[in-house]
Amino acid sequence: MTRIVYVNGAYKRYEEAAVHVEDRGFQFADAIYEVIEVLDGRLVDATRHLARLARSLRELRIPAPMSDAALMLIIDQVIRRNRVRYGIVYMQVTRGAGPRDFALPPAGTPPTLVVLARSQRKGWSAVLAETGIGVKTIPENRWGRCDIKTVMLLPAVLAKDEARENGAKEAWFVDAQGNVTEGASSNAWIVTADGTLVTHPLDPQILPGVTRATVMDAAKLEGLKIEERAFSKAEALRSREAFVTSATNIVMPVVTIDGVPVGDGKPGPLAHRLRLRFHHVAEISAG
Ligand code: PDD
Repeated sequence: MTRIVYVNGAYKRYEEAAVHVEDRGFQFADAIYEVIEVLDGRLVDATRHLARLARSLRELRIPAPMSDAALMLIIDQVIRRNRVRYGIVYMQVTRGAGPRDFALPPAGTPPTLVVLARSQRKGWSAVLAETGIGVKTIPENRWGRCDIKTVMLLPAVLAKDEARENGAKEAWFVDAQGNVTEGASSNAWIVTADGTLVTHPLDPQILPGVTRATVMDAAKLEGLKIEERAFSKAEALRSREAFVTSATNIVMPVVTIDGVPVGDGKPGPLAHRLRLRFHHVAEISAG
């Protein structure tokens, strides 16, 4: 349960935590966010998440609400005050509040910062990884800057709902060239017949996933070959394995695409290996 939330300089009771009705995050989705895994009370890959947060802010010219060191102190407090051992930290920064106007607010408008932490059942994703998940492909309909982690998530919300209606847990966006860009809230991977890991290159079509980066580190340490290139749904269906990566799922095997089995239709050994290696390679730090 989330009991305490940090909002703009104060620790508020969950029931009372709120931002202004004219917050630009609310009116324009003029906001960015991060999700960090909490593992045994500690943060997973905080440095990479804070670096991406800073980049998202820079790209949108939203002023940073505070230094990384100050933000880390707040994250630590929020984890402690909610007694989270296993779960996530969610933080969001908006361009602040003011009378609704497409024009950017005057310089000096303070950004809004919300930090909350939530417990999750320890090991839930490991249990899910034993059976793996299905994905549903959806035509790409997001904007051209998916490399920025904005809260403009309506296409992802609707894609996930369509996936759910079709008995799948995740959606994979497919672009006009027929290539899989990424999941609605994860990066997409396949393993070719010769054991090469393939994932979409970093460009404005995908989010530079922190888990993606750390899984690459793990794969290199394991001596695996990685190719950063686009792949189609047809290639994914011919592949040996498929999986998705995200801070919440770590490495999650994909066993069906649009109801068709990938490989033998069971979670693959490479996904399993990378999942087990992940937390040994990731940066684990005190909150
Ligand atoms: N989503 N691609 C998209 C579109 C995402 O929303 C996410 C993460 C990722 C994976 O990024 P990372 O490995 O840094 O978590 C890729 C988070 C978990 C969310 O929205 O809840």
